[in-house]
Amino acid sequence: MVGPTRFMNLYACFELGIVEALRKEPGLTAAGLGAAVGAKPDAVEQLLHLLVKEGFVALDEATGGYTLDTLGDVAESDLQRVLTFMGMMKTGMLRQLYYLTDSVSTGAVVGLKELYGFEGTMFQAAAEVEEVRDAWGPLAQSETASVYPWFFRSFDVPAGARVLDVQGGNGLGAIMTCQTKGSPGLRVTTFDRPAMEAECLRNFEAQGVAEQCSFAGGDAMESLPGGYDVMLLKHFVDMYDKDEVLTLFRNAHRALEPGGQIVVLAPVYPEDIRDADDYQADFFPAYILGCVVGRGGLQKVSTYRGWLEQSGFEVTSVRAKDPADIPPDAIINRVVICATKAG
Ligand SMILES: C[S@@+](CC[C@H](N)C(=O)[O-])C[C@H]1O[C@@H](n2cnc3c(N)ncnc32)[C@H](O)[C@@H]1O
Repeated sequence: MVGPTRFMNLYACFELGIVEALRKEPGLTAAGLGAAVGAKPDAVEQLLHLLVKEGFVALDEATGGYTLDTLGDVAESDLQRVLTFMGMMKTGMLRQLYYLTDSVSTGAVVGLKELYGFEGTMFQAAAEVEEVRDAWGPLAQSETASVYPWFFRSFDVPAGARVLDVQGGNGLGAIMTCQTKGSPGLRVTTFDRPAMEAECLRNFEAQGVAEQCSFAGGDAMESLPGGYDVMLLKHFVDMYDKDEVLTLFRNAHRALEPGGQIVVLAPVYPEDIRDADDYQADFFPAYILGCVVGRGGLQKVSTYRGWLEQSGFEVTSVRAKDPADIPPDAIINRVVICATKAG
């Protein structure tokens, strides 16, 4: 019950500049902090009760002075990553989730319609509505930066292969494929809605990969173009329900060359959903249904394995990040599943 109040109380201490003020001048009292951040000392004192309770901030009862306690131990880069996520939680999630029930009833993201008058997914809204882009964009960027280097280390692309980045958006995946998997004869195609072509080609040109990269427009639910050795399905299978994921896998199977490989990057639930150290169930159902697409959701690795096998693939590897590379604040747990088209 107290999740939202705890969240906003803490985040407000950052937004007001209370934490920053204590970093600069340890020992400030509520009166000093009030003057520093432009708020009534009584209100500052109220907010700080929770931070003292949690041991984030310490209060010297004798002087009334506050100092950073455990918050002072958090490295700046870690703190910035967490604050980016919290900013998205506030501006994106808290508001849209007011309509979660309606989103589930209707299968559409009602929050986007109520808040911005937009009908469609968060990805479509982000392309058109500045406020939506501002709410989610920084998170997308920090996630991309932390995921892509690991993702491209997690599978092999044979020399001279033809690669299709399915629903590849603005072409970043194709560009990174060229940069990290380069070999003589490598060709990479971004497949997306035809409307994405111009932006994609501009990005290929700007990154100097226009020779190796191309764009193909179409609807992945209808069919995928043939003649490819590797297909990348990253950051989107969790946006679909079972029948649609099966359609995507079958379309990929039909279009791949014999022996071709499908590479799926997706967040997954733990095999035991009760795993207390895993946060996927705390975050994703509400996020995907209430904020992003109004349908779909994560699955377990075993479920994806079964669906891939049903679609004619044999799973060859499942890779997760090395635990040593996962920061303590990480909520999202992704895997890379590689599977081969038999025969
Ligand atoms: C979540 S983004 C995909 C992210 C991208 N794969 C990545 O790794 O960052 C969704 C993209 O899928 C495209 N898309 C959605 N439905 C599609 C469909 N049925 N066929 C082709 N592209 C589609 C959208 O245009 C958008 O660029």
